[in-house]
Amino acid sequence: MLSLLKEKPLVIASHNQGKVAEIRALLAPLAINVVSAADKHVSEPDETGATFAENARLKSRHSALATGLPALSDDSGLAIPALGGAPGIYSARWAGAGKDFSVAFLRIQNELVEKQLATAPAYFVCTLSLSLPDGKDHLFEGRIDGMLTFPPRGDLGFGYDPIFIPDGYNDTFAEIDAAEKNRISHRAKAFAKFLKFIGSGEDSDHHR
Ligand code: IMP
Repeated sequence: MLSLLKEKPLVIASHNQGKVAEIRALLAPLAINVVSAADKHVSEPDETGATFAENARLKSRHSALATGLPALSDDSGLAIPALGGAPGIYSARWAGAGKDFSVAFLRIQNELVEKQLATAPAYFVCTLSLSLPDGKDHLFEGRIDGMLTFPPRGDLGFGYDPIFIPDGYNDTFAEIDAAEKNRISHRAKAFAKFLKFIGSGEDSDHHR
């Protein structure tokens, strides 16, 4: 599998610069040629799926079809069980068109207050989807559990990082340096499965 990725560039099927930067760093040890969907002028498909897995597959397949190259996408988000799993697949959308996460932080805080909660457990999920030119899609999932905190703290990372404290830490993801986040995060865990798969031919979480 790795030989296929050494022959052709791998398209990172994301228009989120924060994610593209993290994925590039996670792929760096493989020494493969990586391009982003934006570099290849691939449009951003509508995320019409009902799950992280469906949206991930939809994005990687869209880029693979548009370029004829293998494509890797990441669909991820924050789930808060006390809010019925919200924002979940709507994580990006809760920040609004201006991608202003202070809006999303406030909405979460308000919805928790309505339930008389000052904080709540939460987890990040990452589903990676690898779409190959032969038409097959392979999915890899990772999750990290933690606790929400308000007000937001830190200016590293992106998205919901300033309100999320991973279990076993006192700092938010936005206060933990990138190398450490990339060692423990939901994305790191999904990537570990992806790397094992492309290195050894082991099975993905599911494929079709
Ligand atoms: P997607 O592009 O639809 O997968 O949007 C995922 C959204 O989930 C991002 O825009 C972020 O808001 C959030 N998210 C995913 N991963 C992370 C992370 O590692 N830190 C903070 N927020 C994240």
